[in-house]
Amino acid sequence: MSGIVNDQAKPEDSEEVIADVAGENGEGVKKKKKKKKKKKKKKANTTDESGEQAKSADDKSNSSKVCAVATPSNDDKATIENAQVPEWTCISCKKPATMRCPTCRKLGVPVELSMFCTQQCFKDNWTTHKQFHKMYKQSMNGASVATPASSSSDDLSTGFKPTMSDLELPPEFRNYMFTGAYRPARVTPMRTVPPHIAKPDYADDGIPHSEMRERGNRRAPVRTPDEIRRLREVCRLGREILDTTGKAVKAGVTGEELDRVCHKATIERGGYPSPLNYHNFPKSVCVSPNEVICHGIPNCRPLKNGDIVNLDVTIFKDGVHADLNETFLIGDVDDDHVKLVKNAYDCLQVAANMVKPRTMYRDLGTAIHKKAVECGFQVVKTYCGHGIGTLFHTAPNVPHYKKNKAIGIMAPGHTFTIEPMINAGNWRDTTWPDNWTAVTVDGKWSAQYEQTFLVTQTGVEVMTGRIGEDKYRLPDWKREWFQR
Ligand code: MF3
Ligand code: CO
Ligand code: CO
Repeated sequence: MSGIVNDQAKPEDSEEVIADVAGENGEGVKKKKKKKKKKKKKKANTTDESGEQAKSADDKSNSSKVCAVATPSNDDKATIENAQVPEWTCISCKKPATMRCPTCRKLGVPVELSMFCTQQCFKDNWTTHKQFHKMYKQSMNGASVATPASSSSDDLSTGFKPTMSDLELPPEFRNYMFTGAYRPARVTPMRTVPPHIAKPDYADDGIPHSEMRERGNRRAPVRTPDEIRRLREVCRLGREILDTTGKAVKAGVTGEELDRVCHKATIERGGYPSPLNYHNFPKSVCVSPNEVICHGIPNCRPLKNGDIVNLDVTIFKDGVHADLNETFLIGDVDDDHVKLVKNAYDCLQVAANMVKPRTMYRDLGTAIHKKAVECGFQVVKTYCGHGIGTLFHTAPNVPHYKKNKAIGIMAPGHTFTIEPMINAGNWRDTTWPDNWTAVTVDGKWSAQYEQTFLVTQTGVEVMTGRIGEDKYRLPDWKREWFQR
């Protein structure tokens, strides 16, 4: 197609026109600048990519050997410098490729998805490839259409200010009798995930087909050593994502922004945000403030001083899911609510202490119930912990309440979550007309913590445990970890 040539020749793209010398040293940088001027005039084409560049391609730095401009042009051929290792294949014709699309490079697209064999091939594919850039950008920043008010820049502190219409009650809530003071707000369109990220089976149609096939199976699967290896790594990434998203929590921030941070952090780690389109859930993380028990949909309402908020993160990567959540305190939370939040953690901790071979799954609920009631709190019964691994939710079922009839006994290689939801008042829940948000029936607040656990030969491994803490027990609650 013609017309492609100039429509990307924005000034910022010409920044890419550069250097044939690798290295972080001053010399390389200088040379870069010199060349830049030259090339700006010349308007070159795709970038040559050596093996060495490929290594640093994802760090988005401009320090590696490259030579390029953003657009293919008819009267200029790219020069191949240092093309001795053509280990990449052209994304169009599959022939050996040494030239990289400069826009892809700038966007941080993985090298294998941005290589071309020739200038001609690059040119011939421009129309479709340009679409790919658009998709990639959208998925990294969230939906570009209808992003609320302010722009969606990349850092954590964009200071998004909702407009009046962002705060209007969505139509399904007109005349709805709320149980408490928290209100919904606008939910932005679903974010996209770039094509190089492997998706779970529900990503397209919202139906977790493989989970549903396993529904009748009540026996917890023993994970293979390879599954455990993958789970460990994905759990570590899940922890990083929760920590990153949790850092963005403060008075004034919206769930919408937290979702953007979580979505981006997940994709940057090569993962798929498991909540996204799971049974049609519209966002990448659950954000549950105050009387919301769980499954809060991130929206455009700012959190405020004195609120508590639970962030529930799940990532799918390498064929496995990792699931964890924490409740944060925003500013001056009153003492009773701090006590509630700590108790939710303590409930998780007493259960974690029981995890070892031969413990009955049903006994966890007894201990959790006791811990909650001794503090004057109640345990939610509708939502339970669950087996996790190749599926988001699978056997065993792990109720948190007393006198439950959960099936099964723990064995080495079982992986599951414990995630008690503790209410300040009545244990009963009800669901908002958005069909997701679970709230307390009396509007009193609810808190929760969740970790993914592995049953070892002798006890427990907290797979999603905090970085730098002992993995073989759940450490005591520390307010400073959660205070914002
Ligand atoms: N992460 C939740 C859990 O702990 C499940 C969320 S499902 C979603 O099990 F669709 F709401 F994301
Ligand atoms: Co869970
Ligand atoms: Co969860």
